Amino acid sequence: MDKTAPIIGVVDLAKTYPGDIPTLALRGVTFEVARGEFVAIMGRSGSGKSTLLHQLNLIDTPTSGTVHIDGLDTATLSDSHKTLFRLDHLGFIFQEYALIVELNALENVFLPAMALGTDSAQYKKRAAELLNIVGLGERLEHYPNELSGGEQQRVAIARALINSPKIVFADEPTANLDTASAKIVLDLFTKLKTEFGQTIIMVTHEPDDKQYVDRVIRLSDGLIEGIETGGN
Ligand SMILES: Nc1ncnc2c1ncn2[C@@H]1O[C@H](COP(=O)(O)OP(=O)(O)O)[C@@H](O)[C@H]1O
Ligand SMILES: [Mg+2]
Repeated sequence: MDKTAPIIGVVDLAKTYPGDIPTLALRGVTFEVARGEFVAIMGRSGSGKSTLLHQLNLIDTPTSGTVHIDGLDTATLSDSHKTLFRLDHLGFIFQEYALIVELNALENVFLPAMALGTDSAQYKKRAAELLNIVGLGERLEHYPNELSGGEQQRVAIARALINSPKIVFADEPTANLDTASAKIVLDLFTKLKTEFGQTIIMVTHEPDDKQYVDRVIRLSDGLIEGIETGGN
């Protein structure tokens, strides 16, 4: 594997949602992301940020164009391979945390490893380590309703990391959080990048988040309006 090759390569990516009046959510975007980069996708509401993220994380299928991940043309994956590929190589963090309320923090974190069928003693140990890294080492047995929003999002971050993903995607991960909790989450992303070389793609509408990232890809009306260097 060529470690200098881009981890994501997107060429002329377009997505049209069908309907009486079709929505051209992405109208041909081309860019690359380097291994270990922390990239923000910014733009007004409706500019196509979430749509772009969904094509990159293989939740959706583009209308045209290509997405390569670590050299693999993702269009060549069958649906079942796509699901396995996502579980094995991609991590996700949602605005609403999306934790399972019946499971405690530790169980939420190891669930994607259990789904992959890896060794249970190993993933339980790894889940505890990750909760420690996100500062929740004392909260392993807490249930989501016993945790603050910021703590729940940190559990979701640990869960996104359990299968050692090539890329972590986050869609407005701090939108529901107070300023202090948002800063903890963003500092955590920075730590994952600097200490573990984690590639992170984060959608945000917070202009101030620019200071945390390597680059900002700015979308407008389904097109890249500009790519800027961040403040990191
Ligand atoms: N599932 C869908 N079906 C139809 N239109 C959609 C769907 N998802 C998003 N859109 C439309 O596509 C455009 C881009 O949406 P989205 O990617 O969610 O923007 P953003 O995340 O930047 O707010 C918007 O006009 C939105 O209404
Ligand atoms: Mg969105």
